[in-house]
Amino acid sequence: MARHTVVTMPGDGIGNQVLPEAIRVLDAVGFEANYIHADIGWECWISEGNALPERTVELLHRHKVGLFGAITSKPKKEAEAELSPALKGKGYQYFSPIVSLRQRFNLDVCMRPCLSFPGNPLNFIRQRPEGGFEEPRVNVVVFRQNTEGLYAGVEWSNPSQQVREALRSHPKFKPFENVAGEDLAISVRIITRPAARRICEAAFRHARQFGYKSVTICEKPNVLRETSGLMEEVAKQVQRRYSEIPLWSTNIDAQTMWLTKNPEDYRVIVASNLFGDVISDAFAGLVGGLGFAASGNIGEEVAVFEPTHGSAPKYAELDPPIVNPIAMILSAAMMLDHLGERDKAEKIRAAIAAVVAAGKARTYDMLRLPGSAKALEQGAASTTEMTDAILEKIGAGVEVMAGGVAL
Ligand code: NAI
Ligand code: MG
Repeated sequence: MARHTVVTMPGDGIGNQVLPEAIRVLDAVGFEANYIHADIGWECWISEGNALPERTVELLHRHKVGLFGAITSKPKKEAEAELSPALKGKGYQYFSPIVSLRQRFNLDVCMRPCLSFPGNPLNFIRQRPEGGFEEPRVNVVVFRQNTEGLYAGVEWSNPSQQVREALRSHPKFKPFENVAGEDLAISVRIITRPAARRICEAAFRHARQFGYKSVTICEKPNVLRETSGLMEEVAKQVQRRYSEIPLWSTNIDAQTMWLTKNPEDYRVIVASNLFGDVISDAFAGLVGGLGFAASGNIGEEVAVFEPTHGSAPKYAELDPPIVNPIAMILSAAMMLDHLGERDKAEKIRAAIAAVVAAGKARTYDMLRLPGSAKALEQGAASTTEMTDAILEKIGAGVEVMAGGVAL
């Protein structure tokens, strides 16, 4: 009997192209699992008025682990226009299913590794003072708080009198008191101690487990004294139980500058929602962008692993598909780590490293070609050819570095 059950949610567009590739790779490293398909995304919205059907929620509730491809989201008006005629005008409202998933299962820890594979032409390079170039090895894991902060959704345009009254109790609101209603928009940044503790704890636990030598809290406590202040305070408290791992503190603005000055100096970075979103995208840009950016949304009970990219509708109809499956495959490897199958995860990462280093199979993004069927004629590997190359390395028994990819 298979040891694990995984709920697979390919979703929309290229989600359907990359998720099956990840399963081929999971099979190749000997991961034994039952895969249960679950519906999610735009088709569900059109035909059911709900992009996250309850049956999908139940499957995740029962099996705890999900692999997710990508979904398509559209603005409110377009969403309403595409709803099936039988459902129109019945009060259905579109909600992003991935945001709903995070809320339903309190997937409050978002983990985004940004690992450079030597030989990737998309890697960041830097000029040496003495001439020539160098390619710093980036191995950063960003832990982003996924449910609170500026993305908690507590916001108003033209706030009510009641909200204005409450804000007036704060002396710093004085300059805004007389701004006309329609000229005023407010978003609230909410940080709670328990959620701050969970994200900091997850960051330190990961650093210890994978041998990373530092954790950096990336906030702005000199200005956002209360909310960033709380994040930093909690990070310091958590660090006391991880005395072998130093805690560094950077400000988000300076961090984005240091990103290209000395990215190789950072290991695990922890941040609140917006700052984590920014810094994880910024680091992902140094190691190949969307074709390489994997992520995990991890709650106390349920975890869902997904590439960072969306459904890329303009490529979804291409046959054969051309998009890079590596982000999805790396997300599947993160799932293996989560399930305690790290040796298999390391095999996958080593095989990807070997394919990238060999430089023979490169998808269109890695060759910086425009994304079209023509890219294949110009030498780009298709989605399945890239996976084939990875499978070949797995079959040949690539060497896994001692201690995995951690530096
Ligand atoms: P996108 O990530 O789908 O695509 C942006 C561009 O990145 C593509 O046009 C392509 O050039 C490149 N790209 C993406 N994935 C790639 C891959 N695997 N290999 C090579 N190149 C790749 O973002 P976009 O175009 O802004 O959004 C398209 C749809 O996806 C929208 O409906 C959006 O709401 C949704 N979306 C969903 C997400 C999710 O499911 N978590 C995340 C981001 C967007
Ligand atoms: Mg983002």
